[in-house]
Amino acid sequence: MNAAQFENVTQVFGDFTAVDGIDMAIPAGKLTTLLGPSGCGKTTSLRMLAGYTRPTAGRILIDGVDVTRTAPEKRGLGMVFQSYALFPHMTVADNVAYGLKLRRTPRAERDARVAEALELVGLAHLAGRKPKALSGGQQQRVALARAIAIRPKLLLLDEPLSNLDARLRVQMRSEIRRIQAETGLTVVLVTHDQDEALEMSDEMILMRAGKIMQQGAPAEVFGSPKNRFVADFLGYENFVRTAGGLVTVRPEHVEIVPGTVSPAGGLALPAIVTDVAYRGVDQIITVVSRDDGGEITLMSDVRADAAPRVAVGDDVVVTAPESRLISIEN
Ligand SMILES: Nc1ncnc2c1ncn2[C@@H]1O[C@H](COP(=O)(O)OP(=O)(O)O)[C@@H](O)[C@H]1O
Ligand SMILES: [Mg+2]
Repeated sequence: MNAAQFENVTQVFGDFTAVDGIDMAIPAGKLTTLLGPSGCGKTTSLRMLAGYTRPTAGRILIDGVDVTRTAPEKRGLGMVFQSYALFPHMTVADNVAYGLKLRRTPRAERDARVAEALELVGLAHLAGRKPKALSGGQQQRVALARAIAIRPKLLLLDEPLSNLDARLRVQMRSEIRRIQAETGLTVVLVTHDQDEALEMSDEMILMRAGKIMQQGAPAEVFGSPKNRFVADFLGYENFVRTAGGLVTVRPEHVEIVPGTVSPAGGLALPAIVTDVAYRGVDQIITVVSRDDGGEITLMSDVRADAAPRVAVGDDVVVTAPESRLISIEN
């Protein structure tokens, strides 16, 4: 069952096409991420789903109903932006109650839902505080509680973690997963961070320049990138043009062997070491080589303690087993 669907949706601003005829399905009761580099159309897609921007062309369905022309407040969605936009003069509880008041939810039910939402995000003890007395992470949870309290059909989160410091950001990933699992809400989360998307998603939709490049479960997309853009975005550093087409292989699956003798089978390219970067647990060895198209740079990520001792300028062979080579479109 799909909670939402885009059918050939386009958004044009002036002469610029921000979203270019996309089809996508948001599965119900799951966490779907829209992932891609800055400017690829993630926020525009989310805003069209929320109803803040009307598509130039195409249809948007929520629960199977065409909402393309439905006002945002009639779509029953909860939204959290990068900036939490809490009301500074209201208490935490009043902030969370805000959407329920707008909907004229009766007092008793409102209080119960506010308490429940604050419980869910672990802030019941701070209900009487003002936002400025809270940390960034706590403010983020208030914004989440406010969006959840209205029991939205869809919870839309636009880069909700990007204003948090690195450690808290990683904590909040599993926190949002837990909240999603406990509530069974359909969540659409926008991020430009591939680690965040891989860790949090049931379903991942990778965008580039207004188009969808690939959609699927994280392990599916990560394990079988369709094209060079997807592979590159997910950390495949090595691209080799062979007689049979373009192949890619992850740095952690590449080995650099000293000398000039190639082992049989798989990838085996003579190369020269150009950089060795020590990183504690591992090290990154960079080499230059040649493929069917000309000079290429390749990278190997190996455990620091297991690494063969190679130095800049050494003649080496770059190897990878056949099973790790993935054929992709350019
Ligand atoms: N209201 C607007 N008017 C003109 N251009 C816009 C508007 N909103 C977004 N854009 C442009 O559309 C592109 C996609 O923007 P956006 O959806 O915000 O990207 P993302 O969220 O993936 O970073 C960007 O190039 C942006 O500058
Ligand atoms: Mg954005």
